[in-house]
Amino acid sequence: MAGPDPRAELRELAAWQRPLRADFPIVAANPEQAYLDSAATSQKPRRVLDAVHTYLTTSNANAGRGSYPWANATTAMVAGAAERVREFLDDRSAKAEGGGGPSSVHFTSGTTEGLRTVARDWLPLLLSDGDEIVVPYGDHRANLDPWLEARDLLAAQGVRITVRELPCQAGTGDYDARALAGLVGPRTRFVAVTHVHHVYGADMNVHRIREAVGPDVPICLDAAQSVGHQPLSVADLDVDFLVFSGHKALALPGTGAVWARGERGPAFRPGGWAGTPNTAGIASLAAALDWLEAAGVERIARWTAALASVLTDGLSRMPAYEVLGCRSSLAADTEVQRRGSIVTFRHHGIGSQDLGFILFSHGFMVRSDDHCQAGRDPRDGSVRVSLHVHNTLEEMEKLLTALAKLQ
Ligand SMILES: Cc1ncc(COP(=O)(O)O)c(C=O)c1O
Repeated sequence: MAGPDPRAELRELAAWQRPLRADFPIVAANPEQAYLDSAATSQKPRRVLDAVHTYLTTSNANAGRGSYPWANATTAMVAGAAERVREFLDDRSAKAEGGGGPSSVHFTSGTTEGLRTVARDWLPLLLSDGDEIVVPYGDHRANLDPWLEARDLLAAQGVRITVRELPCQAGTGDYDARALAGLVGPRTRFVAVTHVHHVYGADMNVHRIREAVGPDVPICLDAAQSVGHQPLSVADLDVDFLVFSGHKALALPGTGAVWARGERGPAFRPGGWAGTPNTAGIASLAAALDWLEAAGVERIARWTAALASVLTDGLSRMPAYEVLGCRSSLAADTEVQRRGSIVTFRHHGIGSQDLGFILFSHGFMVRSDDHCQAGRDPRDGSVRVSLHVHNTLEEMEKLLTALAKLQ
């Protein structure tokens, strides 16, 4: 299905985007460089940096201990940030119940630690001998290793569980919901999925996973590549755990969160004693979510999808390149796999590492390796361009010109 003209979309949004780009100090200070690696980690807007500076210079203390004003302010800031995460993820249970609700938010260093937290603290409570879980084998290894580790740990305690592979469609990498429906049985207790694929850039249509697994099985969503990139609602997606990296969503390195619904499965709140949290990182995360909301996540999604569309369209006219994953589409049809802010490709004659170096010599910072995709040979690389709101049409056109010269 044909979507809107990406260049018309970019023209319409240009006046909105310009001041947002100017708000990233590192981008503004390096106009000759194009940062095209936001899927690895994001750049930070001034407001986020200011929030960290303000916190550290006005009320830096530990959270959850101490009763003097800075300690109280820090405790309140962390609680407020957890509330902010709930709101940002459209956790309606929290609103309905006056901010409490059965859901909980746990700050982590990123998605890897978040998924491990789910695997370590919740999963064993869901499982008994003979149960089954379904997990993706072709997504980021952060969304595979923790489940396999949990299986092995349980086996060492005499609890044998079966890990089944979440089926994917050849070519696009999209999940095969129909095949999944045939895999789900009475012993299926847990399903792990990814919202937006970190290599294919595709929205993995997780609403169809809920339909396929039925209403009772807890679903854990790796939202590392969707939070801050597209509107997202845990209420609509009907998932039970949502895990993301704050540092990919404009917050400081070492930040992330697990949101847990606590309705299906155990209402367990792990970590009675959590230790000292990353308070400056948490302050940055709250500020980043404020920034994203003020900018408008829906428009960020339109902007980056239009840039991605320009890039995939240009690449598809160059026979030397193969674009991985789904076709670009801005269509609203939910059965069509939509490409978000990631475009990954290979050159038929130039190795991906070499291509990455060449592109850097032209001022483009891209990722060129196996992208931590589970089951990949590290030599089986590709070049990934991942975008955020600060990227521009001019950057895409310059990149296409450089790529065309390399044909
Ligand atoms: C889909 C996905 N899941 C998990 C991760 C791991 O995130 P982190 O390195 O923040 O733990 C990434 C990082 O690239 C990712 O893209």
